[in-house]
Amino acid sequence: MSVQIKRRADYMPPAFAISTVDLHITLHPTETRVFSSLRIKRQGSHQDALVLDGDNLPVNKTSIDGIELSRKSDNSPGYVLDESSLTIPVESDEFTLEIETTIAPSRNKALEGLYLSGGAYCTQCEAEGFRRITFFMDRPDVLSVYTVTVVGDTSFPMLLSNGNPIDKGQLTNGQHFVKWHDPHPKPCYLFALVAGDFDMLSDTFTTASGKEVALELYVDKGKQGQGTFALESLKRAMKWDEEVFGLEYDLDIYMIVAVDFFNMGAMENKGLNVFNSKFVLADQNTATDDDFFNVEAVIAHEYFHNWTGNRVTCRDWFQLSLKEGLTVFRDQQFSADMTSELSNRIKHVRVMREHQFAEDASAMSHPIRPDEVIEMNNFYTVTVYDKGAEVIRMFHTLLGPDGFRKGMDEYFKRHDGQAVTCDDFVSAMQSATSLDLSQFARWYSQSGTPIISVKQSKLDDGKHTITLSQHTPATSEQSEKHPLYMPIKMEVMDEDGVQYTDNEAIINDGMVILDKESVSFTIDAPNKTLTPVVLGNFSAPAKVNNELPTTSLLTIFKYGKDAFNRWDAMQSIYNRCISELERAPGEAIDNDIWAGIREAIVREQDNVELLGECLVIPSFETLCQSRTSINVQTLSAARKAFCSQFAQHLESSLLDVFNSIESAPYAYNQNAVNQRRCKNVVLAHLARLPQHESLVIKQFEQADNMTDTLGALRCAQFCQRDTFDSLMAKFEQKWSNDPLVLDKWFALHATQASKDIFATITMLCEHPQFTMSNPNRVRSVIGSFAFYNSEMFHALDGSGYKFVTDYLLKLDTLNPQVAARIVTPLTQWQGFAVEHQTLMKEQLGRLLNHKGLSKDVFEKVSKSLAYGAD
Ligand code: TRP
Ligand code: ZN
Repeated sequence: MSVQIKRRADYMPPAFAISTVDLHITLHPTETRVFSSLRIKRQGSHQDALVLDGDNLPVNKTSIDGIELSRKSDNSPGYVLDESSLTIPVESDEFTLEIETTIAPSRNKALEGLYLSGGAYCTQCEAEGFRRITFFMDRPDVLSVYTVTVVGDTSFPMLLSNGNPIDKGQLTNGQHFVKWHDPHPKPCYLFALVAGDFDMLSDTFTTASGKEVALELYVDKGKQGQGTFALESLKRAMKWDEEVFGLEYDLDIYMIVAVDFFNMGAMENKGLNVFNSKFVLADQNTATDDDFFNVEAVIAHEYFHNWTGNRVTCRDWFQLSLKEGLTVFRDQQFSADMTSELSNRIKHVRVMREHQFAEDASAMSHPIRPDEVIEMNNFYTVTVYDKGAEVIRMFHTLLGPDGFRKGMDEYFKRHDGQAVTCDDFVSAMQSATSLDLSQFARWYSQSGTPIISVKQSKLDDGKHTITLSQHTPATSEQSEKHPLYMPIKMEVMDEDGVQYTDNEAIINDGMVILDKESVSFTIDAPNKTLTPVVLGNFSAPAKVNNELPTTSLLTIFKYGKDAFNRWDAMQSIYNRCISELERAPGEAIDNDIWAGIREAIVREQDNVELLGECLVIPSFETLCQSRTSINVQTLSAARKAFCSQFAQHLESSLLDVFNSIESAPYAYNQNAVNQRRCKNVVLAHLARLPQHESLVIKQFEQADNMTDTLGALRCAQFCQRDTFDSLMAKFEQKWSNDPLVLDKWFALHATQASKDIFATITMLCEHPQFTMSNPNRVRSVIGSFAFYNSEMFHALDGSGYKFVTDYLLKLDTLNPQVAARIVTPLTQWQGFAVEHQTLMKEQLGRLLNHKGLSKDVFEKVSKSLAYGAD
């Protein structure tokens, strides 16, 4: 297989600029005609030919300044066309190029470019999908003003594109058209077109400067009632961005379309966001609290891109974190303001620990600004997005909210309307602070998860020395690592909860700057046992190595000022107990620990938010990140054994909590969310005790909302098989016509650790609502199995690995982007015991040897197999 590696270091500015783009698109399932007229200007004094990207497109007709061109042949000059590009020799420095091509949206199953599915035409151009629609310089640093005429059958009453509608009319033969103009120059990855028959919700938003913006939300017919929450969220996001960042919307109309077939969450196309319907549709009956949360977060994320992404965009795709890391940080801040800071922080830290640490430990490890890429779609990663957001958060921590805002203002002042780099962002931030950010910028180029170690020694004079040191292990693509600049939030307390943060090394109310291999400081505390807690609120994306005794962890829980640290201390206790049970299966956990937890429950009885989170046992995936050479069965058994001791020893305390939370009629507000969350966490523990099965059934039968229904179903996974099966059957019957709700049911089935799991999955794939061409369905069934059914996926007969591989071989021919995501767990073999590794690599080998494998899957599989080979 011939693959091309693209390198960040090879960046060259575009040889031509394209100032205006006029598109005339006549929709047809198999013969959509795309006519494009481009105003082009040579950049600089070279005489190079014009090279346009075009992915397997025909040239029907092309001309320069009205003079038709022909294909180059032996005896005449002309254009050269191959499967990925069109090369046109041009003499003039400024000219109009016209090209007509034809595409077949109904045959597009990759959902990239223009596709027809679920009865609607829809585009997805980021990162490099525009080249599947027409010939263009498909790179983010070519910015143009677009005018787009969409022509379609009247059975597609809505014809949408970016910007403002400027003309519309009826045509002959049952067709009509709408013409759109977007005055803001944009890169082609922000182009969008949607055509279909939708229900529309509309509203308005008046900006701070008094401009009225029309808001339009398009959903499938009959789903109008499920769109109101998204529309309200949009208004909250618009308001928040004005208040917190002083940023206003810049067009007269903002449209959002929800579609069922979509590769990712949503897309920020200028003035016309396209969403996976999963992140728009929500009501009490069909959506859980988490779904509501995600709808609001994704709506905000795409809206915030209007400034961080669209007005200021990326120079090249290596700079992706410039827009994504920053926009994720912005949506996290928004969510924290709308809901709760603590639960948001915990949620995002879980993502880092479960997924980003795993990525960094794998062959796909890369800096938040990658240096090399084969398939760009593979770099929409937890590293670029979530670690990227953590890096932005550190700017925020270091500069403070005001300094950060000042830096952002400067960023927009310097770069509005431009395509820029991460370095440009750093230098805008630098202008707003007296700190020297040059070492800090290493976060953009160095990959890997740093480990912070904490050491303590008692001196004779009653002083304690505390030493923090950092070390970043080598990653697959980078052997040499250097010290990072890290803000470390700290608490130091003694056994009575007295805090010792009055020290010169500890600045700004509990922050230590770790910018060298190590820093030490001394604390005067005669006759005291000190407990240092580092990385409060996860102030840097790092792991911590702090060997505290369990008593100290309980001290942190009892006296910690930072609620996040208190939660984290409990997680460490659980993690430690599970390790003990791995070493000595069947052992009973110390009674002191149960007593400590019992005491904690009583003390936090009224603080259901923290309590609920503190009663969550770390997931299998999180446990993996603090272990090597994992034997899945052993770890899984240890986790289960711990959960079951937990339920037995704490039964009465848990019941007290469960009974103290009263069921109120459903409302989505933070207080109610916290209560439901806590209640469901507690119920999941109780469900492991046969005597409480009735609680699960009762909740399932009485729930007036999806959160409690699904909560009960999840708990039923721990009940008798019959109970689980009968509740699942009821659920299926009720929701058989709502695929988005059924996805939850698919996922629950696929994560059952049962012996007949493959028969179950095969059956799910034959379900009338299942189709391999819909990414949501595939993610719920196959994705859930591969990512979250650890026991069965990692079965030591290799059946799980083989099953997923067989499926991926089929999926890859249809939708490589989704296949490449689901292959992830198979490529992350590094942490597992050799028996697992051998079996995983065997299946990776099958993939690699497969003829016609997409470059998406190829990149990840080949890197994974090459890991550690040299
Ligand atoms: N830019 C989008 C976002 O973060 C994500 C995105 C990138 C995407 N490529 C995509 C979405 C392909 C759908 C399909 O909001
Ligand atoms: Zn984004």
